[in-house]
Amino acid sequence: MKTTPEVNAARLLKSVADFAAIGATPAGGVNRQALSVEDRAARRLLVERALARGFTVFQDEVANLFIRREGRDAALAPLLIGSHLDSQPTGGRFDGALGTLTAFEALEALADAGIETDRAIEVVAFTNEEGSRFSPGCMGSMAFAGVANVTDWHSVAATDGARFSDELAATLNDLPEAEISPIGHTISAFVELHIEQGPILEREGVPIGIVTAVQGTKWLEVAFSGEAAHAGTTPLEFRKDPMAAAAAAIVRIQGDIMPSDPDARLTVGRIAAEPGSINVIPGRVSFTVDIRHPDATILAAIERRVRDECQAAGERLGCKTVIEQRVDMPPGRFSPHVAQAIEDGCAAQGIACRPMISGAFHDALFVNRIAPSAMIFVPCRNGVSHNEAEFVTDDHIMIGARALLGAVVKLSCE
Ligand code: GLV
Ligand code: MN
Ligand code: MN
Repeated sequence: MKTTPEVNAARLLKSVADFAAIGATPAGGVNRQALSVEDRAARRLLVERALARGFTVFQDEVANLFIRREGRDAALAPLLIGSHLDSQPTGGRFDGALGTLTAFEALEALADAGIETDRAIEVVAFTNEEGSRFSPGCMGSMAFAGVANVTDWHSVAATDGARFSDELAATLNDLPEAEISPIGHTISAFVELHIEQGPILEREGVPIGIVTAVQGTKWLEVAFSGEAAHAGTTPLEFRKDPMAAAAAAIVRIQGDIMPSDPDARLTVGRIAAEPGSINVIPGRVSFTVDIRHPDATILAAIERRVRDECQAAGERLGCKTVIEQRVDMPPGRFSPHVAQAIEDGCAAQGIACRPMISGAFHDALFVNRIAPSAMIFVPCRNGVSHNEAEFVTDDHIMIGARALLGAVVKLSCE
């Protein structure tokens, strides 16, 4: 190695600000949902920067975007680093983008220092991690890991009515510079940096979390069908009111599951009534349930409980109940080898760190199924995320980038 690679603070912080401007919301967050015009603009900016640095770019059939810097030995599988660029509709500027941009900064730092790594390094921006515009989340990493096929989602409709296959094709065609290769090439390992999205690191004053596991997630869509009727003229005994069923079911599952298990998480994040008129008893009400738990058996038991409560509420109120599972992500345990490389990189630079479990799912959960993976967490203010107020200090951005670079050097030169 010629010199030690160094993160360029001014460049990285400017890069975070430049990407935050794409899809910027008035409240200081971003709306850059998967495969949208804004998502495409962010991909374009990354590709332009990559080509300007002499890196190569390519994408795969699910529009995962890769930036590659060659290593000494072309026979060695590349090290993969990165995250995603899509956001929640009222998302923050760091969820996903920070992992992608610190990974790109690592490539630039290696190039600045003239360092030739043994294996190539690829930065990835995975497609649709968030799952808010098109469900499920982590489409890109699931397809990359062979857990699902891109064709499974072609007819998926976006929350804005667009079709997945159309938006995917438009996104792929928007980057003619990035050749399209088959999904799922061999990699040696994967490291993803991300904001913690929870309060632990900030509370403990530790700048780096080394993520050793991710809790499991299940997403359900519950729909009650009753009978649309006049709000003013229909007495109680004539009503088949799916809103009453939904309210009863939500009160039961919210009131019981989390209060009785501090490790459980349950969220009803979206509810829709049809026809959605103030003076019409709805004919149909649907809502989503997001359930999380680190233990797969308990997670399955919570799902059964939610299903039972919803069926019972539907029956009590004369409604038909249909429950569909949209996402089933079992808990995952990351690679001790990759976690150790992160820890060694931190130790060498005097960066304090601690092991932790991720409450959020991440692309690394799926990549870990085909290659040893682990994650680096940095603190975010008050643990707030999936919110325009998401905030990470410049210091923590820099420490995270240095921790990532340390791990990258270890894992690409071994
Ligand atoms: C990821 O965005 C999650 O919901 O955990
Ligand atoms: Mn994310
Ligand atoms: Mn997210």
